[in-house]
Amino acid sequence: MAQPAAIAVQGLGKVFRRGDGLSVAALAGLDLVVEERAFVTLLGPTGCGKTTLLRILLGLEAPSGGSVRVAGRVPVEGQVPAGAVFQQHSLLPWRRALANVMFPLEMRGVRRRAARRQALDLLRLVGLEEAAGAFPHELSGGMQQRVAIARALAHNASILLLDEPFGALDDRTRRLLQAVLLDIWESRQLTVLFVTHNIEEALTLGDRILVLGQGRILEDHAVPLARPRDPLSDAFAAELLALRRVFAAAAEGAARGRDRSIEA
Ligand SMILES: Nc1ncnc2c1ncn2[C@@H]1O[C@H](COP(=O)(O)OP(=O)(O)OP(=O)(O)O)[C@@H](O)[C@H]1O
Ligand SMILES: [Mg+2]
Repeated sequence: MAQPAAIAVQGLGKVFRRGDGLSVAALAGLDLVVEERAFVTLLGPTGCGKTTLLRILLGLEAPSGGSVRVAGRVPVEGQVPAGAVFQQHSLLPWRRALANVMFPLEMRGVRRRAARRQALDLLRLVGLEEAAGAFPHELSGGMQQRVAIARALAHNASILLLDEPFGALDDRTRRLLQAVLLDIWESRQLTVLFVTHNIEEALTLGDRILVLGQGRILEDHAVPLARPRDPLSDAFAAELLALRRVFAAAAEGAARGRDRSIEA
């Protein structure tokens, strides 16, 4: 039997009822298939439903409609075979870096010594072995995100979901961590869904770039560039321009759709 797609979403809708009585349709008719071992970037403006989608994939939020499967199963909180990295402030402040990475291992019942060894290996993988004994507040933002990646990998899942993990970092650190992530994706043969609102970052990382707007996928753009990608190359610059046009057209189309729905 064929392997199920890593992520399969059909007709997904999510309506939030806010405290003031108003309803917000965060997602509406979203279709998405992410094949195993793909690196897919999800690009979209603020408020378009990116985090909501990731939270639904992790079983942290229930859909209002449609179907969602992660590794062939309906997501249940705590049981989804995926590690996740959020934008910031996701580490446990009272635990040292090593203990943060050990946390998912402990939750899975891995014995302390083995958990310690595996967590150290993961910190080494993200180039942060020497920070094992530091508390999160003693680490820079980039270092904290490395710990968060190591902790996400400690779930030992084949799927990694990342929600603007490098958004708060300077350009150089961001590039460094992008390279670290690509190395890990390749060496561990992971499936990655990476949320960003940075077009250049989407192009640096993804095989496919999905443009999200109005709660659904507006464009599904295959990236024709070989790896490793050189952001200073002519081919990259040309592709970036093409993608900016795709993005602008999608945004314009979404705005027109919105105007129509207001008129209706
Ligand atoms: N718990 C909630 N209750 C009510 N509305 C919510 C809730 N969570 C999200 N929303 C609304 O759903 C929409 C999508 O929010 P979401 O956080 O998914 O956006 P996003 O694409 O991740 O934006 P950003 O790029 O700013 O992180 C927004 O209009 C937001 O106000
Ligand atoms: Mg978000």
